[in-house]
Amino acid sequence: MAARISSFLSRSSSSSFALLSRGTNSSLRRGILRYGTAASVEEPIKPSVNVEYNQLLIDGKFVDAASGKTFPTLDPRTGETIAHVSEGDAEDINRAVIAARKAFDEGPWPKMTAYERQRILLRCADLVEKHNDEIAALETWDSGKPFEQCAQIEVPMFVRLFRYYAGWADKIHGLTVPADGPYHVQTLHEPIGVAGQIIPWNFPLVMFAWKVGPALACGNSIVMKTAEQTPLSALYVSKLFLEAGLPPGVLNVVSGFGPTAGAALASHMDVDKIAFTGSTATGKVILELSARSNLKDVTLELGGKSPFIVCEDADVDKAVELAHFALFFNQGQCCCAGSRTFVHERVYDEFVEKAKARALKRAVGDPFKSGIEQGPQIDSDQFKKILKYINSGVESGATLQAGGDRLGSKGFYIQPTVFSDVKDDMLIAQDEIFGPVQSILKYKSTDEVIKRANNSQYGLAAGVFTQNLDNANRLMRALRVGTVWINCFDTFDAAIPFGGYKMSGIGREKGEYSLKNYLQVKAVVTALDNPAWL
Ligand code: NAI
Ligand code: MG
Repeated sequence: MAARISSFLSRSSSSSFALLSRGTNSSLRRGILRYGTAASVEEPIKPSVNVEYNQLLIDGKFVDAASGKTFPTLDPRTGETIAHVSEGDAEDINRAVIAARKAFDEGPWPKMTAYERQRILLRCADLVEKHNDEIAALETWDSGKPFEQCAQIEVPMFVRLFRYYAGWADKIHGLTVPADGPYHVQTLHEPIGVAGQIIPWNFPLVMFAWKVGPALACGNSIVMKTAEQTPLSALYVSKLFLEAGLPPGVLNVVSGFGPTAGAALASHMDVDKIAFTGSTATGKVILELSARSNLKDVTLELGGKSPFIVCEDADVDKAVELAHFALFFNQGQCCCAGSRTFVHERVYDEFVEKAKARALKRAVGDPFKSGIEQGPQIDSDQFKKILKYINSGVESGATLQAGGDRLGSKGFYIQPTVFSDVKDDMLIAQDEIFGPVQSILKYKSTDEVIKRANNSQYGLAAGVFTQNLDNANRLMRALRVGTVWINCFDTFDAAIPFGGYKMSGIGREKGEYSLKNYLQVKAVVTALDNPAWL
């Protein structure tokens, strides 16, 4: 997958990417560069898929919400409704938990051999791979992500994750432990039971795979609550899982809102574990709901304000391209976005000029169009929040180098925006903006940049760009973050663990580490009659 991302990265940086969204007529008003209206974002391209699944998946069947309620899921290109989706709430979550419990306690899933579970997971992966382009189109329609990104990176990454965890299914085993006495001691690694999972809208499919893959490989059953902005791809994929032979009730999918369906799942007394990805504020709520209910085990993957450090020896052109990708990928809607670009003073001015030029070249437009690097933001709340941060950057005295406003008059497109002269105490250098807004900060020494990079409530990831081995070694150890990417960024293979230090989360997902989230350890101690057997 790393290879796929870098090939996407090099393609997206090639000059063959058409410049679809930038008007010629930019003017400075209140320090804000305004772009001309772009035809490419005004006329949405019709997607090549239909919405086939819009109900809840409970106990192997697609059903309406108990209340009969539905909610619209919107197309971020226009803000118009794509489809009405059943809106689950506490009652539906309860129905789903009952089905998951039954599948766990009585059903075949945890009882079948690991090899049989592995074969079903592999069939799930095969079917998703077979429907790659339909799934990618649904994801683009619902989320505004570039179709090429969905089709070439995200759906294949889903498949890779499922194959990776299918591989683990029959390699999970305990230990034999030497004890100080006449005992035979062994550990059994058992599934936790019913896993509740709550995912966000920025990577609907990938987050689904990160959570569902290891939970199923370990033999758990699941109640998944998808994000209200992006319910469609999970329903489509779950239908394929039934076709692949996943028994009813093993995976239940409830679309709905956070304070209703999400909170009901996190506080349910018969859910054994909750895995959450989203904002730090909601992560705190989840932990509290667990504490107030049954102390279910909690893993959290939360926000970030990740530093991207360009050392003085860096090849500036390469650093600019990577820093651009680190921030702008996925419309800037990444928990690990490199959103504090620290640049050494010796290369700062050159870097800023080139970062500005790169942002002005970014291909923004209808995400279904080939060559598009950036689509619209997810919804009107995020759109307004990002524009407010841009305003705050201007007002706090940062220099606006590029962008600064919406693009077009329809939907949630925002111009790729670059600020230089950003200071650590500005809001744009502290908060998670979650949008296409790059903040470039200047530094003088490695000691200084380590202190400033670590001076954040978050600790999710960091990028380091250098040719100097000592610098790389020093920074990788000093940065208090869950992932350090050196001369790369957003490299996300299934085998690489991911998670946060500090307020960026609790626990690790992906890789072997994620199995720990879905297993518990039982110690079995057997007295030995004849100590000679020791
Ligand atoms: P959020 O954290 O509120 O939503 C994520 C998921 O949690 C959704 O499925 C939502 O329905 C659910 N949720 C919300 N409130 C809940 C509650 N009380 N109980 C249980 N579940 C609940 O994030 P939101 O509102 O979509 O975005 C706000 C900000 O969060 C963004 O601007 C961004 O800064 C950050 N964010 C971070 C993400 C990450 O990957 N770390 C992903 C999405 C958002
Ligand atoms: Mg949507």
